Amino acid sequence: MTQAQKGICAEPNLHALYLTLIVIDDDAVTMRKKIAQVLALFSHYDEEYYEAMVSGIVAVGTDYWYELYPRSIPQELAPFPIMNSDDRSAPATPGDLFIQIKADRVDICHAIGTRIIELLRPHIDLFEEVKGFRYLDGRDLTGFVDGTENPKGMQKFNVALVGDQDLEFAGGSYIHVQRYRHNMEKWQQLSVATQEETYGRTKADNVEFKSTDKAPFSHTKRTSLKDKDGKSIEILRQSMPYGDMTIQGLYFVSCAKSPQPFTNMLKSMVYGDGEGNYDRLLDFTNAETGGAFFAPSINFIKQQAKE
Ligand code: HEM
Repeated sequence: MTQAQKGICAEPNLHALYLTLIVIDDDAVTMRKKIAQVLALFSHYDEEYYEAMVSGIVAVGTDYWYELYPRSIPQELAPFPIMNSDDRSAPATPGDLFIQIKADRVDICHAIGTRIIELLRPHIDLFEEVKGFRYLDGRDLTGFVDGTENPKGMQKFNVALVGDQDLEFAGGSYIHVQRYRHNMEKWQQLSVATQEETYGRTKADNVEFKSTDKAPFSHTKRTSLKDKDGKSIEILRQSMPYGDMTIQGLYFVSCAKSPQPFTNMLKSMVYGDGEGNYDRLLDFTNAETGGAFFAPSINFIKQQAKE
């Protein structure tokens, strides 16, 4: 049976380490083997520190994919969908490999991260490292609970993983990553009522507004999309807050069986509904990075490492 990488559908954790890497040589044969060794590192730490709920994802940038696995291409592989409208933008930034390490212990995230960098070092440069953390009861730094409407149970797998429509890539996932930086000063000037209108949910107790009471520019209105048959279009979010005393934001991670749901949601946020109703959250946060990746199944990575 095809085995998906554990981090794709993992439950929320206390800590994350997100690494974006640039591959600087063209030794694809070695990289295929080393990527399989990254999976072995995840398993090792998962077994050794089982109480830390360790999980990992290694995902391949859509450009680098053609160098790494030129003979097999996921059907919907596509570059990051760059978007710009007025002062809102969704840029694409460099990234050949994306690694997500999650655990309930920050030391274990650190240990796995350093082992991965040691393993890959001569072949890669580190483009960016971001430490994510759980904030209060699973809130974004704007103070609202994040992840409530994420799919649950089996639906998680249906939403996040490629199915039989692309057999060779079944169990894989299209991953989109954006590092958002919040303007906390501006956000904190809003009344709680205006913040709640911006999300379409209450702040303290996290209750969803009735659909008819949601503003067309609210974040949850702009991201609740339906297909032509009226079925919800969904993604699985693995985002976490990050920051220090100077910079704060959300490291946004979307996992889905196709790149389309993320792309359509982002379009709806940035460009709006054609009547000026773009996502008002974007007046208070700004995407500084963007990357599109594919996280193949464990079977695919191991198989390719042998060839
Ligand atoms: C700084 C950026 C963002 C922040 C702070 C943020 C925060 C939130 C919060 C607090 C919620 C409500 C609770 C929940 O259901 O999780 C939410 C919902 C949601 N967000 Fe975001 N989000 C951000 C960016 C994005 C992006 C870029 C997308 C997709 C392109 C997205 C997709 C969604 C979806 C699908 C929902 C659930 C909507 C529903 O069904 O009610 N979010 N987000």
